[in-house]
Amino acid sequence: MSTQRTATLTIDGTSHEFPILSGSVGPDVVDIRSMYAKTGMFTFDPGFMSTASCKSTITYIDGDKGELLYRGYPIEQLAEKCDFLETCYLLLYGELPNAEQNKEFHSIIKNHTMVHEQLIRFYSGFRRDAHPMAVLVGVVGALSAFYHDAMDVSDEHHRRVSAHRLVAKMPTIVAMAYKYGRGEPFMYPRNDLSYTANFMHMMFGTPCEKYEPNPVLVKALDRILILHADHEQNASTSTVRLSGSSGANPFACIAAGIACLWGPAHGGANEACLQMLEEIGDVSRVGEYIKRAKDKNDGFKLMGFGHRVYKNFDPRAKLMRETCHEVLNELGLQDDRLFKLAMALEKIALEDDYFIEKKLYPNVDFYSGIVQKALGIPTQLFTGIFALARTVGWIAQWKEMISDPEQKIGRPRQLFTGANARNVLPVDQR
Ligand code: SDX
Repeated sequence: MSTQRTATLTIDGTSHEFPILSGSVGPDVVDIRSMYAKTGMFTFDPGFMSTASCKSTITYIDGDKGELLYRGYPIEQLAEKCDFLETCYLLLYGELPNAEQNKEFHSIIKNHTMVHEQLIRFYSGFRRDAHPMAVLVGVVGALSAFYHDAMDVSDEHHRRVSAHRLVAKMPTIVAMAYKYGRGEPFMYPRNDLSYTANFMHMMFGTPCEKYEPNPVLVKALDRILILHADHEQNASTSTVRLSGSSGANPFACIAAGIACLWGPAHGGANEACLQMLEEIGDVSRVGEYIKRAKDKNDGFKLMGFGHRVYKNFDPRAKLMRETCHEVLNELGLQDDRLFKLAMALEKIALEDDYFIEKKLYPNVDFYSGIVQKALGIPTQLFTGIFALARTVGWIAQWKEMISDPEQKIGRPRQLFTGANARNVLPVDQR
């Protein structure tokens, strides 16, 4: 007697059995890979509301519990007990590094932070007022021209080196995008600083004087990077996986992920959220915007609220709110107008029936804009910081995909609703 659980699909009186697969935790899946061969039909799931695109061992989210685990470790513990590079090691290799591995990994990354001098010339092709995300798409994509020779995706060593290069160089590339927009000279990496302190040096330092980052702010930004590092099969990660499934250059695939993350429904929400708070301006106007968010005829959505998976608090939003408090207190900005407005907006929204019924809670983007603004990061660069952090998640997911022996090129089908076959008529008969 087979113990394999199956799902039965009956079409026009004929029953078809499909195996049910279980993971280590989370929803089971119905394996429908044979469905088209058996039934001549496709499943239909635009937006992938009920579709698992892959197996993965990297990140697990329980949307109802508001739980986020990187390789089994709760995000709350990683944010408190680890730094971003330890988290990068965990995401890339599956275990937290021991003292020796940690030292070696920090050293490897530290010694890959410079970029090719020719890459720096790409910035000058952009207008100074170009959106930083447009610059990042271009410059990160250009990395594929610099390392194409050392990029055999089937070679584990090449994959490892590419991952190290991306984790190491993203801070340099993002900081250069910031400096280019301000017309200030690029700052070269400093090997005497930690990963995140070095990023702040490249962002806010100048050749005119030694820049010593504030350790409280460095720790806060390092935590922000941890919170954004990976998040299961979100839109940009799925973009990286799909583009990588053709065997494409990983640097080009990461550029595709950056492009997807830029959208306001995804990583661009932190920029959009701060703009929304600036537009609301005062607590007295919150009701007006809550009303608009509920109005089906108004395209307005409350930026930083809602999530495809979290139907409870996004655990990252809670940690981000705490980080906000720490940074604003450190900078003497306890009465920050936008922070007070955000907290008032959060309270009002969470008590509103519409948001309760639709289980709309603050997500990671709700507070991240406020804390990044306090750190001196310009609004347009918020998503660039998100991309900096998420690069390790993207490349870890890409490595998992490309090294999967069952890996196939991703090629979805469609429900065709266009014209049936027809003949071309001469132009004077159309
Ligand atoms: C990120 O996927 C990830 O993991 C992403 C991310 C990651 O780390 O990679 O977590 C990062 O992208 C966070 C999300 C940032 N985006 C925003 O804050 C933008 C505002 N939020 C919405 O656009 C929306 O909530 C999404 C895009 C986040 C989720 O959209 P879904 O899952 O497709 O849900 P939906 O749009 O169908 O919403 C369900 C209902 C709808 O109403 P009905 O059609 O059922 O009547 O809730 C409503 C929506 O209109 N709704 C909102 C709302 N979000 C959803 N109404 C008002 N304001 C909102 N913010």
